[in-house]
Amino acid sequence: MSSAVLIRKIRALKPWHHNLQLTPEVDIRCAFEAEEIERANNGNVSFIDARDEFESKIKAIYPDGVEGKTFLDCACNSGAYCFWMRELGASKSFGFDVRDHWIDQARFVQENCRVAPTDNIEFAVFDMMRLRERNLEPMDITLFKGIFYHLADPIQGLKIAADMTKELLWFNSAMIFKEDERGMICTFERSEKVMSGVHSLSWTPTGPKVIVMMLYWLGFNDIWHVFTRPYPANLKYGRMEIIAARTEGELDGLGSVQGARKMDTTVFKNAVPADDDIKSLF
Ligand SMILES: C[S@@+](CC[C@H](N)C(=O)[O-])C[C@H]1O[C@@H](n2cnc3c(N)ncnc32)[C@H](O)[C@@H]1O
Repeated sequence: MSSAVLIRKIRALKPWHHNLQLTPEVDIRCAFEAEEIERANNGNVSFIDARDEFESKIKAIYPDGVEGKTFLDCACNSGAYCFWMRELGASKSFGFDVRDHWIDQARFVQENCRVAPTDNIEFAVFDMMRLRERNLEPMDITLFKGIFYHLADPIQGLKIAADMTKELLWFNSAMIFKEDERGMICTFERSEKVMSGVHSLSWTPTGPKVIVMMLYWLGFNDIWHVFTRPYPANLKYGRMEIIAARTEGELDGLGSVQGARKMDTTVFKNAVPADDDIKSLF
């Protein structure tokens, strides 16, 4: 397919959220004028280049590579992380999203990418809350990014993902800054927005604490707070990232990532820790 035809097809599949390289000459970005992918002109969808940051953290955690690892991406959008994990050596990836729009993009990239292997990646359209019905084999690494705050029952959603995870769960979510970081704020969202949830009700965490406690409860023993970043446009809201592993010491490589810090979860080990003990953790 010529570059011109490829670009025409990319444009027909807009809006895009991720930049992805398809051929040496063509990536998603090059198919648009700069102003066309500004959020306001892109169906209120932000357009991001997330590859370098993702890749550098994977390499920090797995200095010997991810060869042979299996990868699950919950709410995978256009499948970007599945493609990058495949390129880094993952043996098998599975990505799903509730919207045809995003999975159509993922399949288009899978068919037309010429710069990296795209085999052994499967995509499907379905709801996070129905993952168990697929009877998949548990995966080594799970990405749970941008989905927690789009679910009516996010704790159950996170549990479904955690139960599918043998080794590492990578959590990333929007958040609302509140003094008590152990809460979640309830809102409604509109399902006609392509980046939103589909259940109307949604919950946004008030800080990393509540998520660290959930991940510990779900059986992760090594938990790292990677970042908390306010959104420049509205400092009441932000983004947090937490990476958790089943085995103690598994994430030591994150020590080389600026700002990342290991959470001390020893206080959780005695069945019901006192409230003050929990506060002292953070
Ligand atoms: C904020 S975007 C995050 C996309 C991607 N995970 C990333 O981090 O780039 C939210 C994504 O979740 C999908 N989504 C929303 N509710 C979902 C659900 N119940 N099950 C599966 N996917 C869902 C949306 O279609 C959208 O692609």
